[in-house]
Amino acid sequence: MNASKRLVIIGAGFACALAIVGVSVLGWYATRPGPMDFVARGGVASTPNMNSATGTPADFKDQDIISRGRYLTAAADCQACHTVQGGKPFAGGRPFATPFGTLYSPNITSDASTGIGHWSDSDFLTALHRGVGRGGKRLYPAFPYASYTYLSDADSLAIKAYLFSLTPAVGTAPENTLRFPFNQRWLMSFWSLLFNPSRRFEPVTTQSVEWNRGAYLVEGLGHCGECHTSRNKFQGLDNKLKFSGSLVDGWNAYNITADPQSGLGAWSDVQLEQYLATGHAQGRGTAGGPMAEVVELSLSHLTPSDIHATATYLRSVPPIKSANSPPVRDTTAAAQPVLKVSVGDQRDLGQKIFGQACVGCHTWSGHNTLLIRSQLTGSRAVNDPSGLNAAQMVMYGTASQNSDGTLVMPGFASTYSNEEIAAVVNYATERFGVARSTLAPSQIQSMRLSR
Ligand code: HEC
Ligand code: HEC
Ligand code: HEC
Repeated sequence: MNASKRLVIIGAGFACALAIVGVSVLGWYATRPGPMDFVARGGVASTPNMNSATGTPADFKDQDIISRGRYLTAAADCQACHTVQGGKPFAGGRPFATPFGTLYSPNITSDASTGIGHWSDSDFLTALHRGVGRGGKRLYPAFPYASYTYLSDADSLAIKAYLFSLTPAVGTAPENTLRFPFNQRWLMSFWSLLFNPSRRFEPVTTQSVEWNRGAYLVEGLGHCGECHTSRNKFQGLDNKLKFSGSLVDGWNAYNITADPQSGLGAWSDVQLEQYLATGHAQGRGTAGGPMAEVVELSLSHLTPSDIHATATYLRSVPPIKSANSPPVRDTTAAAQPVLKVSVGDQRDLGQKIFGQACVGCHTWSGHNTLLIRSQLTGSRAVNDPSGLNAAQMVMYGTASQNSDGTLVMPGFASTYSNEEIAAVVNYATERFGVARSTLAPSQIQSMRLSR
């Protein structure tokens, strides 16, 4: 049997197996909650006066479709994924590493040859709501259409109007390197059947207008679950564990349910809204990595009323307690180093580096009143026993400037060895957090390689 015949047989076998799995999973899935399960639990609304949940806030009442579209595009954070570092906004090319190979975001500017300039309104709606591109091309769920499916037609078309109002940028993304069978786009039709709820947002009449607006922002535009909810074997969001945390690009996207220990339950309203709007909450740390980007490109552009609605909805997400997520320690450390007796061990190395490279900004107490954003105590990352986010921060720092013009966290990946980085992170989590992390130099090495 030649290779291509074998491939066809394997392909057909795979398709049959998938169809059988698909049908049985569909039966199971039909009976389990969808992404907005607890939204629907309150009963689906029929009252039209709840319409204010979609669209832009009242502040935009007199604005044209392009300004409304700009706001909604920021709320949906389209730019983050469709822009390569240093590249033209929305011109695509950003890589998405998956266990099955790498996929690249396309150009979504109005350039006719390399972008979506020829797309009709209906092409655009089909992509956002159903994950089907022009000419029936099935799209991968790295494009979060299972969340954008909730967007109203009017909001989706305002986004299109805004994108089409910008100067078109020429640019073609590199070819995907996905392996067989994952390079078979038609398989995504099964995925969509199972995991794309494929319906528009419907307000819950038993909840306030503010809560409904928050639900629309969080579940639809903000697609928070795409990072904060873990995935099942088929890469669908496991909404039984809604918002209880997940791993994304080597970072822990923490539990944002209402759980008081591992989630946001103990955060004050002021802290939560401050974190969302500015990326920093007094006594709760500063957003880093992927969350810093979400704040910069998306949440910091929302009106205070929308930030408040987002927080209102988050507060209502049923608490789930995560393993390995102890209560954070919020007391500051001693003002001076406590010298360790075990000379020559990793603690001494950590303390030495902290004294050389970190103390100028962070101080020995972890609380520098002149550089508020650098406060280490109270932050989930510093209290995370895995030490993962703290290590990412120490290696790569903060990419862009702080909005308040203060110093940002520099990256030390090229300054220190794996052993030194592990030592200083383990030292910082012990000194400022609830427990010492146990990062090994080999883990730092894998973090370097997976970047
Ligand atoms: C989390 C990352 C992410 C976000 C956020 C995102 N996209 Fe995408 N998008 C992608 C990826 C990756 C693809 C390519 C999928 C594929 O090749 O199957 C894509 C594909 C598309 C396509 C299909 C284009 C084509 O040529 O087939 C359109 C249109 C699109 N996105 C528009 C948007 C809009 C509008 C927004 C904001 C409302 C948005 N995207 C937000 C990652 C994202
Ligand atoms: C691209 C992935 C991504 C998206 C999308 C995302 N987050 Fe996050 N989020 C993260 C990561 C990673 C962290 C941890 C950041 C850190 O340690 O500095 C985080 C942290 C947080 C925290 C702080 C948790 C804590 O205990 O410190 C809150 C609150 C939060 N996110 C809310 C949201 C909301 C609300 C949305 C949707 C509007 C959202 N996030 C969308 C990745 C994401
Ligand atoms: C130039 C000042 C500066 C230096 C030097 C510095 N940091 Fe930072 N660090 C910051 C700031 C500011 C933040 C908050 C994030 C931001 O705004 O960039 C931060 C954030 C952090 C965080 C994440 C805190 C959170 O809220 O999640 C950790 C962990 C950290 N730094 C550890 C270190 C270590 C360890 C060193 C030494 C190897 C170091 N920093 C050196 C300024 C600095």
